[in-house]
Amino acid sequence: MARPVPAIRSVYVCQQCGTSSPKWAGQCPSCEAWNTLVETVVARATTGKTAERARGRATAAAAAAISPIGEVSSAEAGRLPSGIGEVDRVLGGGLVPGSIVLFGGDPGIGKSTLLLQLAGRIAAAGHGALYITGEESTAQVRGRAERVGAVVEGLGLVATTDLDTAIGAIESSAPALAVVDSVQTLTSAELSGPAGSVGQVREVASRLAEVAKAGQSCVALVGHVTKEGTVAGPRTLEHLVDAVIYLEGERLGSTRLVRAAKNRYGSTEEVGVLEMRTDGLVEVADASRFFLESEQPPVAGSAITIAIEGSRPLAVEIQALVAPSGVGSPRRATTGIDVNRVLMLIAVLARHAGLNLTGHDVYVNVAGGLRIEEPAADLAVATALASSLRERPVRAGTVLAGELSLSGRVRAASRADRRMSEALRLGFERLVTGPHRSAGATPARRGGGGGMVLEATDLREALQLALVEPATI
Ligand code: TYD
Ligand code: MG
Repeated sequence: MARPVPAIRSVYVCQQCGTSSPKWAGQCPSCEAWNTLVETVVARATTGKTAERARGRATAAAAAAISPIGEVSSAEAGRLPSGIGEVDRVLGGGLVPGSIVLFGGDPGIGKSTLLLQLAGRIAAAGHGALYITGEESTAQVRGRAERVGAVVEGLGLVATTDLDTAIGAIESSAPALAVVDSVQTLTSAELSGPAGSVGQVREVASRLAEVAKAGQSCVALVGHVTKEGTVAGPRTLEHLVDAVIYLEGERLGSTRLVRAAKNRYGSTEEVGVLEMRTDGLVEVADASRFFLESEQPPVAGSAITIAIEGSRPLAVEIQALVAPSGVGSPRRATTGIDVNRVLMLIAVLARHAGLNLTGHDVYVNVAGGLRIEEPAADLAVATALASSLRERPVRAGTVLAGELSLSGRVRAASRADRRMSEALRLGFERLVTGPHRSAGATPARRGGGGGMVLEATDLREALQLALVEPATI
């Protein structure tokens, strides 16, 4: 008797390392982790259908429409502003119809809040929106919607954990934005794996991606990041989606940063700044000023830099604390900046400015929960450290931006004019930086649109320019 042809073909994928095996086993043959194999669909078609598909492919290839590039409309054309400018900035100008975007972040950070707000704004602007919730009841979502002002006409709610039901809802209502909260709670009936397993999560995302591509809906998937920093599954989803947007921030603080880890429709450099209030996430009026901890007179151990995040300059306060360490090796701890970069700056301070921190614990913090990657922050970090050690504050009205080399030289930060004009706007008057690439003798004192740009060739000189008298370090 012929065995029935299986409706689907599946393999077992290890959730740890991604290796696939044809059969289930208790232990992954590759990475040897236990109980990590999860059934995953590889082909949905039956044998008969496969042949049919192959024939279809032949005709499709013959009929493939080739369009002159000049006649193809770009994704830019149909962009839909989300109604939250800081989110649009990160998306690259708004939601793109027919795209699928993954919103990741720690549990409780505000993903559901943000997406409900986006859905509410899209609906209020007259475009349909659909919110599919697999985690909460419609009553819970309604409660949140009342807080964030998303009880609007044109926003539909569906509570389901079934992928086919979710897809049916999207296809029948064809909303401009369909939110799926979350990718970990939906399951495909075709797979035996539990919700949230790699197999299910991938299947959910790829089916929803097909739905998005086939229509004009933008599908926003919510994904939780696990403690280990991987979105349970969604890291493995990055290639399936058009953009990956992370919502970050300290859970107890109110600042939330929106960043793109991948974006087929825009830059991944932009950062959006939001604040969690009792009525949801709100845009920060003056993001640049937001990261300045205080407008008090400068204190020892604090230095301000103008960082450029994406296309936007942001004034950021770097705080350093240098304290004599007890027995054992001294501590070096940082938040918001790479500890290895700080270790390098400690070495440069010792070697080129005569500031030895060997016997000191060192703590460096970037105020406001921002994470600084650009080397132009070097000068501010080194100055904050020197300032704390010497107990001399940075001169009032001074900001710093420049990269330090291992030889103690200062390189001017890129886009110094942008930084200076932002500094001026925020009420600072002096920018300490490295020599302008085309300038000759230093220290040059150039007027930068009203402010003073002080060019230091090396760290010692920069510290003299930045710290209050006596500057004999
Ligand atoms: P939520 O959007 O549920 O997070 P996620 O979906 O990422 O898990 O947000 C949860 C937190 O946000 C919760 O601790 C309460 C807080 N919150 C506010 O502070 N203000 C608000 O208006 C809302 C809706 C939530
Ligand atoms: Mg949620």
